[in-house]
Order: sequence, then C-alpha cells, then structure tokens
Amino acid sequence: MTMAPETAIDAPVLELRNVSKYFGSVISLKDISTSVRAGEVTCILGDNGAGKSTLIKTLSGVYQPDEGEVLMDGQPITLDSPRAALDAGIATVFQDLAVVPLMSVWRNFFLGSEPTKGKGPFKRFDQATAKSIARKELKDMGIDIRDPDQAVGTLSGGERQSVAIARAVYFGARVLILDEPTSALGVKQAGVVLKYIVQARDRGLAVVFITHNPHHAFPVGDRFLILNRGHSMGDFAKNEITREELTAMMAGGAELEQLAHELSRDSADPQVREAGREFKDEAADLGIAD
Ligand SMILES: Nc1ncnc2c1ncn2[C@@H]1O[C@H](COP(=O)(O)OP(=O)(O)OP(=O)(O)O)[C@@H](O)[C@H]1O
Ligand SMILES: [Mg+2]
Repeated sequence: MTMAPETAIDAPVLELRNVSKYFGSVISLKDISTSVRAGEVTCILGDNGAGKSTLIKTLSGVYQPDEGEVLMDGQPITLDSPRAALDAGIATVFQDLAVVPLMSVWRNFFLGSEPTKGKGPFKRFDQATAKSIARKELKDMGIDIRDPDQAVGTLSGGERQSVAIARAVYFGARVLILDEPTSALGVKQAGVVLKYIVQARDRGLAVVFITHNPHHAFPVGDRFLILNRGHSMGDFAKNEITREELTAMMAGGAELEQLAHELSRDSADPQVREAGREFKDEAADLGIAD
C-alpha cells in the first residue's frame, strides 16, 4: 500500500516563522511568527513605525525576510516579487490603492487583466462583457455603482476601497491584504469597508487587515497580532483578548494614564486641567486607565 503524501489540511494558508527584517541598524521586524487562515480575518495592529507595512511587504513579495521563513499551505515559499505573490494568490490593496482616478470603475476593475473577444488580429478588449462583469461583481458584494462608466475619482474613499476588494475577490485571490483601508475614512465609510472585509472572509478568503484602530479591528478580527517597534506584543485569538485589553496594548495604556494624570493634576492652567480630566475620563471609557 502506498502512503498518501503528507497533506496539511489544517495548515494555514500563510504562515510566518520567526521572520526578521533589518534596514541597516533599524530593526523593522524581529522574530515575528503568525498564521493566516482561510475564512478568517487576521488583524495586524501597531502604532506608527511598528513594522506593519514592512510585514505586509514581506507577504506581498516586495521585501524578502532577512531571517525566518514564509510558508504557504505548509510549504516554504519564496515570494521574490509582487508578481510572484499575486501568482500565488496573494492580493494586496495598498493604501494608495493603485487605481487611476480619471478612469472608469469598470476599466479600473480590469486594469491589467482585460477580457478579450475574437482571435489573432481581431482580438480586442470586450467592453460590454467587462462592464457587465464589473457591475455584477460589485453588486454581489453589495456595492451599488450607479454607472460603471463613472470615473473612480468620483467615488467616495470607502467605495474605492470596495472596488479594489471586489477586484481581488473576482480575480481569485486566496489571501487579501489591506493596508490601513479604514484610516482615512469617516465612521460610516469605515463601517462600509468593514462590511466588505467580512464579506471577503465569508467567501473563504484569508484576510489580513492592517490598522491603527482597535475599534475597527475588534469587531471583524479572528486573530490579532500586535506589533511594537518591530517586536510582537502578542498574537491572540479573539477569545483570548477583550476589546479593552487590545486597546490598552495598542495605546501603551500606562504611558497614556501617566500623561492624563500629569495634565489633570499639575498644570497651573485650569483649561489644561479640565482637558486632562476629560482625557482621563475618555481613557477610562476605553479601558486604558482606571
Ligand atoms: N525601506 C526602508 N529603509 C529603511 N528603514 C525602513 C524602511 N522601511 C521601513 N523602515 C523602518 O522600519 C520601521 C517600521 O516601518 P513600517 O513602515 O513597517 O511601520 P508601520 O507600522 O507601517 O508604520 P505606519 O503606521 O507609520 O505606516 C520604521 O522605523 C521605518 O523607519
Ligand atoms: Mg505603514
């Protein structure tokens, strides 16, 4: 009897093992391990300079790790270019989105992968098909674009993110990486993007969601990797951490508490003392100060 080759059914789609990345003397990532699973949202949280973008660039083929390894479906993989990552099914929506504002929604949807009609010299871009696919795919994600001929630049920030997400889903991404998709958005628009993140997850994609904001991460996240100056502060499943703990770890709770304390007590200016008290109340509401 022949043994079946070892298959890793439960293997995460992507896995980082002890990954480090240095830029000269700057330690951008040190000994980071985490796993990214299908049908889950993995959140990567951290303050400015924490290493979030470096981490996703390592997953999207822009950087190679100096130490450690990246595994896909349980096998070590070298992502030596963004194209290699894309071919492996890892789609990244960068903060600037790489959309062309003056181009229509449907052209942006198919940018670089236009459907064609006819053969040989008669081969041409099939506009009617492209428009109807773009409209249908967006509709399936609950995005109602009135007119696919509309320029992407006229869409709201949230809608633009949504087009980029729908595009990655349509072109068969298995892993969808979103770098701070909600940070420039108002509350309502951010909510819309969070909804699409959940939809992509429900379609079975492994979603990697980078954010500063624990209030955006907590409702949609299944796992939380918290980075601080390149180091992992912990990698938690949802049932291992509360929203308050997440916020406190993100905000550097102790430092904020100290600041609130100093503001409310020590200033000679009553307005500053008042601001300090309000700040302290707010911090208490968020669970980052008592
Ligand atoms: N190409 C590079 N050359 C030199 N240093 C770099 C490079 N890329 C990142 N770094 C450094 O690595 C550290 C982490 O940067 P990174 O951009 O990953 O942080 P981040 O968590 O994405 O921050 P932000 O929230 O501001 O986007 C920073 O100290 C940064 O200066
Ligand atoms: Mg960044």
